[in-house]
Amino acid sequence: MRTLIINGSPKSKNGNTEIFIKKFLKEMKAPHEICYAANEDKLQIANYMKQFDTVIVAMPLYIHAMPGIVMKLIECMEPAQDCGKSMGFIVQSGFMESVHSKYLERYLSSLTKQLNYTYLGTVIRGGSAGIYMMPEKMNKRLFKQLSTLGEYFERKGTFNMETVEEMAKPCKLSKGKSKLLQLLSGIGLGDNMFWNMMLKKNNAINEKLDRPFVDKLSD
Ligand SMILES: Cc1cc2nc3c(=O)[nH]c(=O)nc-3n(C[C@H](O)[C@H](O)[C@H](O)COP(=O)(O)O)c2cc1C
Repeated sequence: MRTLIINGSPKSKNGNTEIFIKKFLKEMKAPHEICYAANEDKLQIANYMKQFDTVIVAMPLYIHAMPGIVMKLIECMEPAQDCGKSMGFIVQSGFMESVHSKYLERYLSSLTKQLNYTYLGTVIRGGSAGIYMMPEKMNKRLFKQLSTLGEYFERKGTFNMETVEEMAKPCKLSKGKSKLLQLLSGIGLGDNMFWNMMLKKNNAINEKLDRPFVDKLSD
């Protein structure tokens, strides 16, 4: 089995998507290659992928959808001539609920069928915006899940659905947990801490409540 992994992050090798890919491939010995939608010609990638039995496209969720470069690449793809090829996806995102990636998942599943590939599934992981800056031990569970997925993929040629389900938790937060998180963010804890730190670092904390398009909308 030859596998092509496509990194669909606009941040290329410097993004969280790359970390996901590297951990997924950690234990993998079977032949595989990685290519980068951000740096390479989309038509060339779409043609090159025809040489592989399996394609995995890994990407971040941007504005509830796939990044534009992945869309461009998809527009270059042609249906496989021969049967027996398969395609899977890894989608990671900032918000912790995986439900945000569900519309994209539905699209990816139907796209795969239109391209005459077997759909291997979509690995979804929310709450991933900060992984590049967290110490290794805080990501230990995620990294273990990814390498387990990779090991299983190497043996069976597909994703382990138990791990996929585990990684997608929480799909939706319970009302109680939402309230608790709102409370924490009200006193400056939780996710807000991280975003405020980023805003301060970029001298943008005073503009954090700006709504630059509101005036234009009311015209
Ligand atoms: C322009 C932009 C739009 C984003 N939109 C969403 C979104 O709609 N939902 C979400 O959960 N995360 C969103 N995120 C967070 C990213 O999915 C998250 O930070 C991801 O880990 C980035 O991966 P990358 O470093 O490979 O680009 C967005 C990030 C950026 C930069």
